[in-house]
Amino acid sequence: MHAAAAAPFAMCIGNAFLTQRAGGLDNGVGLLPPLGYNTWNDMGCAGLSEAGVRAAADSLVATGLRDLGYRYVNLDDCWHDPSGRVPATGRLQEDPFRFPSGLAELGNYLHERGLKFGIYTDRGSLTCGGRPGSLGNEELDADTFARWGVDYVKEDNCFSSTGPNDQDAVFQQFGRFRDGLNKTGRPIYFSVCGGGGQLPLANLSYYATDPRGGGALANSWRVSSDCTVWVTCQNAYRIAADLGNAAGLGGFNDPDMLLGSSPGAARRLSPAQSRTQLSVWAILMAPLLIGAPLQSLSGYDLETYSNKEVLDVDQDLLRRQGSLLSKVGSRLVWGRELAGGDWALVFENDGWFRTHNVTCGSTCWGKMSFPTGTMLRVRDLWAHAAPTVARHWAVAGADYSVSVAPQGASVMLRFSCVVGATVVV
Ligand code: GAL
Repeated sequence: MHAAAAAPFAMCIGNAFLTQRAGGLDNGVGLLPPLGYNTWNDMGCAGLSEAGVRAAADSLVATGLRDLGYRYVNLDDCWHDPSGRVPATGRLQEDPFRFPSGLAELGNYLHERGLKFGIYTDRGSLTCGGRPGSLGNEELDADTFARWGVDYVKEDNCFSSTGPNDQDAVFQQFGRFRDGLNKTGRPIYFSVCGGGGQLPLANLSYYATDPRGGGALANSWRVSSDCTVWVTCQNAYRIAADLGNAAGLGGFNDPDMLLGSSPGAARRLSPAQSRTQLSVWAILMAPLLIGAPLQSLSGYDLETYSNKEVLDVDQDLLRRQGSLLSKVGSRLVWGRELAGGDWALVFENDGWFRTHNVTCGSTCWGKMSFPTGTMLRVRDLWAHAAPTVARHWAVAGADYSVSVAPQGASVMLRFSCVVGATVVV
C-alpha cells in the first residue's frame, strides 16, 4: 500500500438530497422516520391508562428525549371502550375507566407539551386485543381520530374475515383507511401493521413490494411479525434489509418497535442487543418508537436513545435506506450512505461464544460509493471518538476489521472521506 497523489475533490462529495416522494401517498407527513414512544411493549393491554400515558409523556420531556426528536406518544391496543361503539353515532369511544378525561383531552395534554398524539386501530372486525376494529367504518373512524386531534394512526391486521394475508383484502381495507385519513384534511401519519395475526417469523415483504403497498399505501409498513425477542428482531431486520428500494421521502419499511434493556421492562433485549437494534434500525431508516418504561428507564437505555450521532443517521436527509453489505457466517456488516458522502457502518457479531473480528472486505466495499484507495477517517458513534477496537482510518477497498463481542453486540462507525487523499491498494 503506497501513499499516492491527491484525488479530485469530487470523490468526497457523493450525493444530493432526495426530494421526490417514494410513492403516491402525499399527506405532508413522514418526511423523515417518526421518533417517539408506543405503549404496547411497555404497558401491553392490561396496563394501559391515562395516568400512565401522561407520565410517559412527562418523562419524554424530562429526560430530554422530546428535544432530541421523540415527539410521538402512541396509544396502542386496548384504549377502546370494551362494550363497543357509541350506539347513536357508531363512533369509537375510549374506555371511560382507563381514560376518564377522554382522548381529546389527552391529545391536548400532549400537544401542549410539544408532543404528537398517536392511536391504534385494526382493519378487521376486532383489534388483536378484542376491541372494536375499523372494518366497514374506516371513514368514520378516521374522522373521529381527526376530531380528537390525532397525528398518527397505526392500523393492525387481526380478525380479518379472510385471514391475515389475503392481499386483495389487505390493500383494499388499509386503502380505505388511508382514503379516510386523506379526506379529513388533517395531516396524519399512517402506519400499517401487517404483523397482527401472523406466525412469529412471518415475512411480510409484499407490503413493500406490491404496487398497492409501500408509499402508495402508508407512511410506514411493517415487514414482519412482532419483534419481541432477539431472534424475531433479527427476522425483522433481515427482511427490511432487502427492501430499501421501497423506502424514501414519506415512506419507510418498519421492522417494529424498539425494546430497550431496562430491568423490569415487560419485554427486553440484552444491553448490547438493544444498542445494536437502534444502530441497525438507523441504518434501515426505520421508525424509532421506544417501548421501554420511560419512568424507570435505565441510565444505559437513556444513553442509548439519546445518542444523537446515531439518531442523525436514522434522520439523514439523503433518505436512502441502508442494507446488509456483507455476511460471513454470523459476522454482519451493515451500511448506509449519508448526505454529503459519508457512510455509517455497523459491525455485528451474532455468534454465541467468541469475540470475532468482523471485516469489511471486497464484497462490502463493492457496495459502497468510495473509489478504491480513498482515505477515510473513522469515528465510533457510540464512543463518540476515534475507535479503540479498530483503526481510526480506513482505505476504501482494503480489509477493515473490528473486534466485536458475541451475542448480537456491534460497533457502529462513520466513515468520512479525507478530502484529496488516496492511497494505492
Ligand atoms: C400486534 C401488533 C403489535 C401490537 C399488538 C396489539 O399484532 O403487531 O405491534 O399492536 O398487536 O394487540
